[in-house]
Amino acid sequence: MTDDGTILLAREDDGIAIITVNRPDKLNALNAETVRNLDTVLREVNDDDSVRAIVLTGSGEKAFVAGADIAELSKMGPIDGVRVSRAGQETFRFMERMPKPVIAAVNGFALGGGLELALACHIRVASSKARFGLPEVKLGIIPGYGGTIRLPRLVGRGRATELMLTGDMIDAAEALRIGLVNRIEEPEALMEAARTMARKMIANGPIAIACALEALDRGMSTTIDDALMLESNLFGLLASTADMKEGMTAFLEKRKADFRNR
Ligand code: COA
Repeated sequence: MTDDGTILLAREDDGIAIITVNRPDKLNALNAETVRNLDTVLREVNDDDSVRAIVLTGSGEKAFVAGADIAELSKMGPIDGVRVSRAGQETFRFMERMPKPVIAAVNGFALGGGLELALACHIRVASSKARFGLPEVKLGIIPGYGGTIRLPRLVGRGRATELMLTGDMIDAAEALRIGLVNRIEEPEALMEAARTMARKMIANGPIAIACALEALDRGMSTTIDDALMLESNLFGLLASTADMKEGMTAFLEKRKADFRNR
Protein backbone atom coordinates (compact mmCIF):
# COMPACT_ATOMS: atom_id res chain seq x y z
CA MET A 1 0.00 0.00 0.00
CA THR A 2 1.24 3.54 -0.69
CA ASP A 3 1.66 5.86 2.32
CA ASP A 4 -1.70 7.55 1.88
CA GLY A 5 -3.48 4.29 0.95
CA THR A 6 -4.71 5.55 -2.42
CA ILE A 7 -3.17 2.58 -4.25
CA LEU A 8 -3.24 -0.94 -2.84
CA LEU A 9 -0.89 -3.64 -4.04
CA ALA A 10 -1.39 -7.35 -3.30
CA ARG A 11 1.11 -9.86 -4.64
CA GLU A 12 -0.54 -13.26 -4.91
CA ASP A 13 1.29 -16.60 -4.76
CA ASP A 14 0.73 -17.48 -8.40
CA GLY A 15 2.59 -14.47 -9.84
CA ILE A 16 -0.44 -12.17 -10.15
CA ALA A 17 -0.33 -8.70 -8.61
CA ILE A 18 -3.62 -6.98 -7.87
CA ILE A 19 -3.43 -3.18 -7.97
CA THR A 20 -6.46 -1.35 -6.59
CA VAL A 21 -7.20 2.35 -6.91
CA ASN A 22 -8.52 3.08 -3.46
CA ARG A 23 -10.46 6.33 -2.98
CA PRO A 24 -13.94 4.81 -2.76
CA ASP A 25 -15.53 7.88 -1.15
CA LYS A 26 -14.54 9.82 -4.30
CA LEU A 27 -15.38 6.93 -6.65
CA ASN A 28 -11.61 6.36 -7.00
CA ALA A 29 -11.10 9.66 -8.82
CA LEU A 30 -7.47 10.20 -9.78
CA ASN A 31 -5.88 13.17 -8.07
CA ALA A 32 -2.22 14.01 -8.73
CA GLU A 33 -1.04 12.10 -5.65
CA THR A 34 -2.92 8.96 -6.71
CA VAL A 35 -1.38 9.08 -10.20
CA ARG A 36 2.09 9.49 -8.64
CA ASN A 37 1.44 6.53 -6.35
CA LEU A 38 0.15 4.43 -9.23
CA ASP A 39 3.36 5.23 -11.09
CA THR A 40 5.49 4.11 -8.14
CA VAL A 41 3.57 0.86 -7.70
CA LEU A 42 3.66 0.06 -11.43
CA ARG A 43 7.44 0.51 -11.48
CA GLU A 44 7.71 -1.72 -8.43
CA VAL A 45 5.78 -4.61 -10.00
CA ASN A 46 7.55 -4.08 -13.30
CA ASP A 47 10.92 -4.65 -11.59
CA ASP A 48 9.68 -7.62 -9.55
CA ASP A 49 10.41 -10.84 -11.47
CA SER A 50 8.01 -12.78 -9.25
CA VAL A 51 5.12 -10.71 -10.69
CA ARG A 52 4.10 -12.10 -14.08
CA ALA A 53 0.75 -10.38 -14.66
CA ILE A 54 -1.22 -7.50 -13.19
CA VAL A 55 -4.93 -7.06 -12.59
CA LEU A 56 -5.96 -3.43 -12.08
CA THR A 57 -9.28 -2.60 -10.44
CA GLY A 58 -11.11 -0.03 -8.32
CA SER A 59 -12.12 -0.14 -4.68
CA GLY A 60 -15.74 -0.62 -3.67
CA GLU A 61 -18.73 -1.76 -5.66
CA LYS A 62 -19.57 1.39 -7.54
CA ALA A 63 -16.58 2.55 -9.49
CA PHE A 64 -13.48 1.44 -11.32
CA VAL A 65 -12.30 5.06 -11.58
CA ALA A 66 -14.79 7.93 -12.09
CA GLY A 67 -12.19 10.13 -13.78
CA ALA A 68 -9.56 12.66 -12.90
CA ASP A 69 -10.32 14.51 -9.68
CA ILE A 70 -12.58 17.37 -10.78
CA ALA A 71 -12.08 19.28 -7.51
CA GLU A 72 -8.35 19.38 -8.24
CA LEU A 73 -8.76 20.08 -11.97
CA SER A 74 -11.09 23.00 -11.27
CA LYS A 75 -8.15 24.96 -9.82
CA MET A 76 -5.72 24.43 -12.67
CA GLY A 77 -4.29 27.02 -15.02
CA PRO A 78 -2.97 26.24 -18.50
CA ILE A 79 0.56 25.30 -17.41
CA ASP A 80 -0.83 22.99 -14.69
CA GLY A 81 -3.13 21.53 -17.31
CA VAL A 82 -0.22 20.48 -19.50
CA ARG A 83 1.63 19.08 -16.46
CA VAL A 84 -1.39 17.12 -15.18
CA SER A 85 -2.00 15.68 -18.62
CA ARG A 86 1.67 14.76 -19.20
CA ALA A 87 1.99 13.12 -15.77
CA GLY A 88 -1.01 10.87 -16.39
CA GLN A 89 0.04 10.15 -19.96
CA GLU A 90 3.53 9.10 -18.87
CA THR A 91 2.26 6.79 -16.14
CA PHE A 92 -0.36 5.20 -18.39
CA ARG A 93 2.15 4.82 -21.21
CA PHE A 94 4.62 3.17 -18.84
CA MET A 95 1.89 0.68 -17.93
CA GLU A 96 0.97 0.07 -21.57
CA ARG A 97 4.63 -0.58 -22.43
CA MET A 98 5.14 -3.06 -19.60
CA PRO A 99 6.31 -6.50 -20.75
CA LYS A 100 3.79 -8.32 -18.54
CA PRO A 101 0.05 -8.45 -19.22
CA VAL A 102 -2.06 -5.80 -17.48
CA ILE A 103 -5.77 -6.65 -17.28
CA ALA A 104 -8.34 -4.05 -16.22
CA ALA A 105 -11.11 -5.55 -14.10
CA VAL A 106 -13.67 -2.79 -14.62
CA ASN A 107 -15.97 -3.12 -11.62
CA GLY A 108 -18.14 -0.01 -12.08
CA PHE A 109 -17.93 3.51 -13.52
CA ALA A 110 -14.98 3.95 -15.89
CA LEU A 111 -15.33 7.59 -16.83
CA GLY A 112 -12.93 10.13 -18.25
CA GLY A 113 -9.46 9.37 -16.87
CA GLY A 114 -10.89 6.09 -15.57
CA LEU A 115 -11.81 4.94 -19.06
CA GLU A 116 -8.42 6.19 -20.25
CA LEU A 117 -6.76 4.12 -17.53
CA ALA A 118 -8.68 1.03 -18.67
CA LEU A 119 -7.75 1.79 -22.29
CA ALA A 120 -4.05 1.83 -21.39
CA CYS A 121 -4.37 -1.69 -19.94
CA HIS A 122 -3.74 -4.50 -22.41
CA ILE A 123 -7.17 -6.08 -21.93
CA ARG A 124 -10.47 -5.10 -20.28
CA VAL A 125 -12.85 -7.43 -18.46
CA ALA A 126 -16.03 -5.73 -17.24
CA SER A 127 -18.64 -6.28 -14.59
CA SER A 128 -22.17 -6.33 -15.98
CA LYS A 129 -22.68 -3.18 -13.88
CA ALA A 130 -19.80 -1.23 -15.43
CA ARG A 131 -20.48 2.04 -17.24
CA PHE A 132 -18.11 3.73 -19.65
CA GLY A 133 -17.81 7.25 -20.97
CA LEU A 134 -15.66 10.25 -21.77
CA PRO A 135 -17.67 13.09 -20.20
CA GLU A 136 -14.82 15.63 -20.38
CA VAL A 137 -16.56 17.89 -22.91
CA LYS A 138 -19.37 18.36 -20.38
CA LEU A 139 -16.71 20.00 -18.19
CA GLY A 140 -15.24 22.09 -21.00
CA ILE A 141 -12.12 19.96 -21.44
CA ILE A 142 -11.02 16.98 -23.55
CA PRO A 143 -9.60 13.62 -22.46
CA GLY A 144 -6.00 14.28 -21.44
CA TYR A 145 -4.63 10.85 -20.57
CA GLY A 146 -4.49 9.34 -24.06
CA GLY A 147 -8.21 8.77 -24.64
CA THR A 148 -8.30 10.67 -27.92
CA ILE A 149 -5.54 8.38 -29.22
CA ARG A 150 -6.38 4.96 -27.75
CA LEU A 151 -10.19 4.92 -28.03
CA PRO A 152 -10.35 5.35 -31.85
CA ARG A 153 -7.65 2.69 -32.25
CA LEU A 154 -9.72 0.26 -30.20
CA VAL A 155 -13.30 0.90 -31.31
CA GLY A 156 -12.91 2.88 -34.55
CA ARG A 157 -12.98 6.60 -35.21
CA GLY A 158 -16.74 6.97 -35.66
CA ARG A 159 -17.67 5.35 -32.35
CA ALA A 160 -14.86 7.13 -30.51
CA THR A 161 -15.99 10.48 -31.93
CA GLU A 162 -19.56 9.87 -30.79
CA LEU A 163 -18.49 8.95 -27.26
CA MET A 164 -16.08 11.87 -27.06
CA LEU A 165 -18.42 14.56 -28.41
CA THR A 166 -21.64 13.50 -26.68
CA GLY A 167 -20.06 12.57 -23.35
CA ASP A 168 -22.72 9.83 -23.16
CA MET A 169 -22.24 6.79 -20.97
CA ILE A 170 -22.60 3.28 -22.39
CA ASP A 171 -23.32 0.09 -20.49
CA ALA A 172 -21.24 -3.09 -20.42
CA ALA A 173 -23.26 -4.79 -23.17
CA GLU A 174 -22.67 -1.89 -25.56
CA ALA A 175 -18.99 -1.77 -24.55
CA LEU A 176 -18.71 -5.45 -25.46
CA ARG A 177 -20.55 -4.92 -28.74
CA ILE A 178 -18.15 -2.20 -29.90
CA GLY A 179 -15.04 -4.05 -28.74
CA LEU A 180 -14.22 -1.74 -25.86
CA VAL A 181 -14.15 -4.69 -23.46
CA ASN A 182 -13.20 -8.31 -24.09
CA ARG A 183 -15.87 -9.89 -21.92
CA ILE A 184 -18.54 -9.29 -19.30
CA GLU A 185 -18.85 -11.08 -15.98
CA GLU A 186 -21.28 -10.89 -13.09
CA PRO A 187 -19.83 -8.53 -10.45
CA GLU A 188 -19.03 -11.33 -7.98
CA ALA A 189 -17.20 -13.33 -10.68
CA LEU A 190 -15.21 -10.44 -12.14
CA MET A 191 -11.95 -10.72 -10.20
CA GLU A 192 -11.74 -14.48 -10.57
CA ALA A 193 -12.36 -14.17 -14.31
CA ALA A 194 -9.51 -11.64 -14.57
CA ARG A 195 -7.25 -13.93 -12.53
CA THR A 196 -8.15 -16.93 -14.72
CA MET A 197 -7.24 -14.97 -17.83
CA ALA A 198 -3.96 -13.83 -16.22
CA ARG A 199 -3.12 -17.42 -15.18
CA LYS A 200 -3.60 -18.65 -18.75
CA MET A 201 -1.19 -16.00 -19.98
CA ILE A 202 1.50 -16.63 -17.40
CA ALA A 203 1.49 -20.36 -18.14
CA ASN A 204 3.05 -19.35 -21.49
CA GLY A 205 6.62 -18.33 -22.25
CA PRO A 206 7.29 -14.99 -20.54
CA ILE A 207 9.74 -13.75 -23.16
CA ALA A 208 7.23 -14.63 -25.88
CA ILE A 209 4.55 -12.71 -23.96
CA ALA A 210 6.84 -9.68 -23.67
CA CYS A 211 7.70 -9.84 -27.39
CA ALA A 212 4.03 -10.21 -28.38
CA LEU A 213 3.18 -7.10 -26.33
CA GLU A 214 6.09 -5.23 -27.92
CA ALA A 215 5.07 -6.24 -31.46
CA LEU A 216 1.45 -5.27 -30.79
CA ASP A 217 2.34 -1.91 -29.29
CA ARG A 218 4.91 -0.86 -31.88
CA GLY A 219 2.93 -2.37 -34.71
CA MET A 220 -0.09 -0.18 -33.93
CA SER A 221 1.88 3.03 -34.29
CA THR A 222 4.16 2.51 -37.27
CA THR A 223 4.01 1.58 -40.94
CA ILE A 224 3.06 -1.97 -41.92
CA ASP A 225 6.54 -2.56 -43.36
CA ASP A 226 8.35 -1.42 -40.21
CA ALA A 227 5.91 -3.43 -38.09
CA LEU A 228 6.52 -6.55 -40.18
CA MET A 229 10.27 -6.08 -39.84
CA LEU A 230 9.99 -5.75 -36.07
CA GLU A 231 7.78 -8.84 -35.93
CA SER A 232 10.28 -10.96 -37.85
CA ASN A 233 13.20 -9.67 -35.77
CA LEU A 234 11.39 -10.53 -32.53
CA PHE A 235 10.40 -13.88 -34.03
CA GLY A 236 14.07 -14.56 -34.79
CA LEU A 237 15.18 -13.34 -31.37
CA LEU A 238 12.84 -15.83 -29.69
CA ALA A 239 14.57 -18.64 -31.57
CA SER A 240 17.64 -17.90 -29.44
CA THR A 241 15.81 -18.55 -26.15
CA ALA A 242 15.93 -21.67 -24.02
CA ASP A 243 12.19 -21.20 -23.54
CA MET A 244 11.54 -21.71 -27.27
CA LYS A 245 13.50 -24.92 -27.16
CA GLU A 246 11.60 -26.01 -24.05
CA GLY A 247 8.20 -25.08 -25.50
CA MET A 248 8.73 -27.02 -28.70
CA THR A 249 10.43 -29.99 -27.02
CA ALA A 250 7.57 -30.20 -24.51
CA PHE A 251 5.06 -30.25 -27.38
CA LEU A 252 6.92 -33.02 -29.18
CA GLU A 253 7.29 -34.99 -25.94
CA LYS A 254 3.57 -34.43 -25.15
CA ARG A 255 4.23 -32.77 -21.79
CA LYS A 256 3.64 -29.36 -20.24
CA ALA A 257 6.41 -26.83 -20.89
CA ASP A 258 8.46 -25.58 -17.98
CA PHE A 259 9.41 -22.05 -18.99
CA ARG A 260 12.30 -20.40 -17.14
CA ASN A 261 12.32 -16.90 -18.62
CA ARG A 262 15.63 -17.66 -20.36
N1 COA B 1 -13.64 13.89 -9.29
C1 COA B 1 -13.81 14.22 -8.01
N2 COA B 1 -14.79 13.73 -7.23
C2 COA B 1 -15.61 12.82 -7.80
C3 COA B 1 -15.50 12.41 -9.13
C4 COA B 1 -14.46 12.98 -9.89
N3 COA B 1 -14.24 12.64 -11.18
N4 COA B 1 -16.49 11.51 -9.40
C5 COA B 1 -17.18 11.37 -8.26
N5 COA B 1 -16.66 12.16 -7.28
C6 COA B 1 -17.11 12.30 -5.90
C7 COA B 1 -18.38 13.13 -5.79
O1 COA B 1 -18.05 14.51 -5.81
C8 COA B 1 -18.91 12.67 -4.46
O2 COA B 1 -18.15 13.26 -3.44
P1 COA B 1 -18.89 13.87 -2.13
O3 COA B 1 -19.58 12.67 -1.52
O4 COA B 1 -17.76 14.40 -1.31
O5 COA B 1 -19.84 14.90 -2.64
C9 COA B 1 -18.56 11.18 -4.47
O6 COA B 1 -17.49 11.03 -5.40
C10 COA B 1 -19.71 10.29 -4.92
O7 COA B 1 -20.14 10.72 -6.19
P2 COA B 1 -21.66 11.13 -6.53
O8 COA B 1 -21.63 12.08 -7.68
O9 COA B 1 -22.36 11.58 -5.29
O10 COA B 1 -22.23 9.70 -6.98
P3 COA B 1 -23.46 9.44 -7.95
O11 COA B 1 -23.78 7.99 -7.83
O12 COA B 1 -24.55 10.42 -7.72
O13 COA B 1 -22.89 9.72 -9.43
C11 COA B 1 -21.25 9.60 -11.20
C12 COA B 1 -21.87 8.92 -9.96
C13 COA B 1 -20.05 8.78 -11.63
C14 COA B 1 -22.28 9.64 -12.34
C15 COA B 1 -20.85 11.04 -10.84
O14 COA B 1 -20.04 10.99 -9.66
C16 COA B 1 -20.04 11.75 -11.91
O15 COA B 1 -20.59 12.16 -12.90
N6 COA B 1 -18.71 11.89 -11.67
C17 COA B 1 -17.85 12.64 -12.54
C18 COA B 1 -17.51 11.87 -13.79
C19 COA B 1 -16.67 12.70 -14.72
O16 COA B 1 -17.05 13.71 -15.24
N7 COA B 1 -15.42 12.25 -14.92
C20 COA B 1 -14.50 12.85 -15.81
C21 COA B 1 -13.59 13.74 -15.08
S1 COA B 1 -12.39 14.47 -16.19
